[in-house]
Amino acid sequence: MSQPLRAGILGTGSYLPEKIVTNKDMEKLVETSDEWIVTRTGIKERHFAAADEFTSDMSTKAAQRALDAAGLKPTDLDLIIVATITPDMQTPSTACFVQTKLGAPQAAAFDISAACSGFVYGLSLARAFVESGFYKRILLIGAEKLTSFIDWKDRGTCVLFGDGAGAVIIGPSVNGEHEILSSYMSANGSEADLLKIPGGGCRFPSSLETIENRLHSLKMDGKQIFKIAVKVMSEAVLEAAKRANITLDQVSLVIPHQANDRIIQAIGERLELPKERVFVNVDRIANTSAASVAIALDEAVKAGKIQKGQYVAFVAFGAGTTLASSIVKW
Ligand code: UT7
Repeated sequence: MSQPLRAGILGTGSYLPEKIVTNKDMEKLVETSDEWIVTRTGIKERHFAAADEFTSDMSTKAAQRALDAAGLKPTDLDLIIVATITPDMQTPSTACFVQTKLGAPQAAAFDISAACSGFVYGLSLARAFVESGFYKRILLIGAEKLTSFIDWKDRGTCVLFGDGAGAVIIGPSVNGEHEILSSYMSANGSEADLLKIPGGGCRFPSSLETIENRLHSLKMDGKQIFKIAVKVMSEAVLEAAKRANITLDQVSLVIPHQANDRIIQAIGERLELPKERVFVNVDRIANTSAASVAIALDEAVKAGKIQKGQYVAFVAFGAGTTLASSIVKW
């Protein structure tokens, strides 16, 4: 009898723009201090994309690296999914630009919008496509150029974000390697007001008024988001472990969305995990929304922090609000 198809991560890649912006640099833009940013968030620096470097460009670079790691060519792909809230344009999708830039004309392409949870949402989606037999090789990208959607006069948000992209290739797992064991997704639309970019949609179409009222940049109730994030992200890790039929003790590394080091540490404390079992790069990368977990995964792989046979947990929470988690056996 043939075994059911199981999806796995065949390769990872990431890309960070060249320009590094330190907290000292941010001090020149708004009334803030390195001390405030580090103590409240753990962030020391972030990468900013160049003016002519778009989400699709960063996506394509991360994608090529993931393809190389998987030993595949762009023409091997069946589908390209880009998780982003900062697309090149309202339409067409950023995935369509990536398809052309990468040279994968045979692949279907679309974007998903689940904010900071976008990449982990996408993992569930790609897994379902592969395990149903519908598609064999899927390029999943998390990418953001958040600097295009930041209110540079709002010190409460502008110091928190950076640009970048991370990518994985999802396909049938060979010999159970890098297999996605569980997926969990949820959303709470009643919390939609906590984090949003209100302008530019049909509710507030672009106008002089929306520009004057700064509706095209990100608005956040940081305190509320912080409280909810710690609770629901901890619960989601446990839910993913339960769905994978493993205990938290068996998880070697948790890779959480990198929004704030205090959130990450609080999750670690709630779950009683030692520091070395929770991945952190928010100090160097800041919050890159949908790209965050994808970049962190690639860095963890490259740094040898994930060994064959180990269980890894992904967890993310963001605007919507959305929440997602997953367990992968490396
Ligand atoms: O990625 C999606 C999920 N996003 C998140 O998870 C973000 C969650 N939230 C957070 O990370 C935190 O709430 C923040 C880092 C955004 C803010 O930290 P906080 O400890 O909640 O600070 P706060 O907003 O309550 O502000 C405290 C004080 C205020 O001054 P007063 O009113 O106490 O005098 C702010 O005006 O800090 C002030 N402040 C700043 N001071 C210097 C806010 N931003 C800054 C700044 N520099 N950049």
